[in-house]
Amino acid sequence: MSSNKALSGIRILDMTHVQAGPTSSQLMGFLGADVIKLESPMGDATRKQLQDVPGADSLYFTMLNCNKRSITVNLKNDKGKEVFTDLVKTCDVMMENFGPGVLDRLGFGWEKVHEINPRIVMASIKGFGSEGPYAAFKAYENVAQAMGGSMSTSGFFDGPPVVTGAQIGDSGTGVHLMAGILAALLQRERTGKGQYVECAMMDCVMNLVRVKWRDHQRIERGPLPEYSIQEFEDFTPRAGNDSGGGQLGNAIKCKPGGNNDYLYIVVQEHVWNALANRVGGEALVKDERFENINARRKNQAAMWKLLEDFASSYTKRELMAILNEIDVPCGPIMSTKDLANDEHVKLREMYVELDHPERGKWHNLGCPIKLSDSPVEITRSPLLGEHTEEILSEVLGYGADRVGELKQAGAFSKPPSKR
Ligand SMILES: CC(C)(COP(=O)(O)OP(=O)(O)OC[C@H]1O[C@@H](n2cnc3c(N)ncnc32)[C@H](O)[C@@H]1OP(=O)(O)O)[C@@H](O)C(=O)NCCC(=O)NCCS
Repeated sequence: MSSNKALSGIRILDMTHVQAGPTSSQLMGFLGADVIKLESPMGDATRKQLQDVPGADSLYFTMLNCNKRSITVNLKNDKGKEVFTDLVKTCDVMMENFGPGVLDRLGFGWEKVHEINPRIVMASIKGFGSEGPYAAFKAYENVAQAMGGSMSTSGFFDGPPVVTGAQIGDSGTGVHLMAGILAALLQRERTGKGQYVECAMMDCVMNLVRVKWRDHQRIERGPLPEYSIQEFEDFTPRAGNDSGGGQLGNAIKCKPGGNNDYLYIVVQEHVWNALANRVGGEALVKDERFENINARRKNQAAMWKLLEDFASSYTKRELMAILNEIDVPCGPIMSTKDLANDEHVKLREMYVELDHPERGKWHNLGCPIKLSDSPVEITRSPLLGEHTEEILSEVLGYGADRVGELKQAGAFSKPPSKR
């Protein structure tokens, strides 16, 4: 483990599973933390979900668990609890995203963990937090998107609510959790004390749809002119591809008219004259229907039609080049294939090839946080329990006798099935 990374020297006991927690601890691993992923001897369920290579850890698992070591411990066994207690004593951070009440049932709620190691930062993701009417409920990504206001504000006005492709409930909450952990570690520098950090997925989704709350309150004072719909009720409506900001924007269909052949164009106020000139010459620049932003808002259907007619002669990339020349903010709708082959993505190391003993070559997304003095080297996800012996001896200082005794007592064996 390199000692010159931003989080070098920080050891994380990572009990997270599925997506929300692992994405957070993986980011911390990218930044140099020593992440010890503690799994039940059955393993994180995602190892076997959506498997594409028979017998190999799935991409669902490998893409969320790089830069970690894996240890398996049976926390329902008394000797397993002893191992866990020793790990808590040596770690700076403990992370988990179990369902409500799971840690208490295992005997390791915050009070207990804090008592074992007063310096440890314990970080939890819950669907709805530890208190309130929803506290006892489990949650997955789309449940959080539904309950945090994202689904009701995504999609087209006259269509059903839509889930966004960006995993804002899981990965979005993971990023929030990392911020909380780093803040708690900084505070510990001054106080010497750890603390409990909690992120509820519903809260984090609400935070990420923040601008829709701006609109929720504006509606009280009348219709929102930037929306392409005219009729409003007393909640923020779905806005399709409307820009959602102070400038007008839309996805404009391009040649040859396939599924992702669109360019998103923001008609920034001060680029209108150049844009109008390029699309329709002097006549369009002088067209009173579009003479200022208020007029363009009112007549936006006509404006988008004009832009779409112009766009029909160009591919999204060609149109992007034309509009970039006159400084119009725009972006082609990129498919995953477009992105996987994109020069810029390659240069930014955002889609990196890795090797894996079970699955061979595969790709993970790179680290989106670039630090000038903490270069990221991505290492493949660990096999289940790959580092159990290494961690027991190197981190906990256990000798062969102690390990043998623990094994004998079932500390690393599967707990009896409940079902
Ligand atoms: C994601 C979620 C719905 C999955 O639910 P689930 O599969 O029923 O899993 P839970 O977290 O509720 O329970 C895990 C079980 O494994 C057991 N377990 C976990 N690690 C263990 C270990 N090392 N040894 C033994 N048992 C272990 C727990 O004790 C628990 O058993 P119990 O139900 O007998 O108490 C739930 O964990 C959840 O709501 N998490 C919080 C929100 C969240 O992060 N959701 C997004 C996930 S992407």
